[in-house]
Amino acid sequence: MSELSPEYRVGVAAHGSCAPAHGSGNPAAAARHDGETLSRDADISPLTPYYQDALCTIYHGDCNDVLPKLKKIDLVIADPPYGVQYRSNHRQSKFNFIAGDDTYPSEWLDGVNKIVERGTIYLFCNEASLGDAQRALAKHKWSSNRLLIWDKQSTSGGNLANYGQRTEYVCYGTKMFAPKLNGSRDGNLISIPRVRPQDLTHPAEKPYLLMAYLVMKSTNPGEVVCDPFCGSGVVLKAAKDLGRPAVGIELEEHYCEIAARRLSQESFNFTGGDADFGVTDSNISSQAELLVSPNDVI
Ligand SMILES: C[S@@+](CC[C@H](N)C(=O)[O-])C[C@H]1O[C@@H](n2cnc3c(N)ncnc32)[C@H](O)[C@@H]1O
Repeated sequence: MSELSPEYRVGVAAHGSCAPAHGSGNPAAAARHDGETLSRDADISPLTPYYQDALCTIYHGDCNDVLPKLKKIDLVIADPPYGVQYRSNHRQSKFNFIAGDDTYPSEWLDGVNKIVERGTIYLFCNEASLGDAQRALAKHKWSSNRLLIWDKQSTSGGNLANYGQRTEYVCYGTKMFAPKLNGSRDGNLISIPRVRPQDLTHPAEKPYLLMAYLVMKSTNPGEVVCDPFCGSGVVLKAAKDLGRPAVGIELEEHYCEIAARRLSQESFNFTGGDADFGVTDSNISSQAELLVSPNDVI
């Protein structure tokens, strides 16, 4: 296996700023956008970041290829394609099918296991993929600590004669250590509104506050976050605003571009005031606690 490119500095000594390698792509991944299928065996090394700043790196490619080449990771937040070929009828003109959304992927966890000796994972899934997600974690020797339920606070489309779907699930697992969650003891129901359809930049975009909440609960500043299916880069942005180095991988160049643009924006202002762009653990925590249902806090 080849060494990482010298530009890759996430989580190690040099957090100094690097010029964004925005748009540079890697040749093997780029081939996919010429209509070819990206080979799992493609030689994509040395890894060239698509985008890089002082804290965040985006790789344009297949996470099965990229993950084994990364350095140590403390937290994985993964929102893989759910294997449902999902495309809302309301949004067909806006978004194509999500890449890889025809089967539930799990081999990427082999790559995760190469870079996580002890750490935490949050694995997103829905009703249909929950069993697959839990089996994949167990097969890869992750303990399943709790199933988190994300209450989107409104229903998505679908059959109007059926109950509306207003939840998704997040498997919370750890490897090789007893988890210690930051902040107060929260229940497993997380009530945070989904992104309004008119604001979506990705068909499966998750709310910033949800991702910031998970990053805050399971890392301390300086610990490295990885999102192997980073889509529009919400996890990366939340990690960056919270002072955590982060690395994201995305197969579709279009979404690398959107994620890079998101990372170039100013920090999220949690307090709502004009002056405070600094997101701290305490203000994200209090903001999150306002939104997260305190259903069984002891
Ligand atoms: C469910 S979406 C993630 C959305 C993201 N959480 C957000 O908030 O924008 C899954 C993403 O994984 C990407 N993807 C699919 N297979 C992949 C692979 N093997 N490696 C890297 N990215 C992949 C898809 O292009 C898609 O953007």
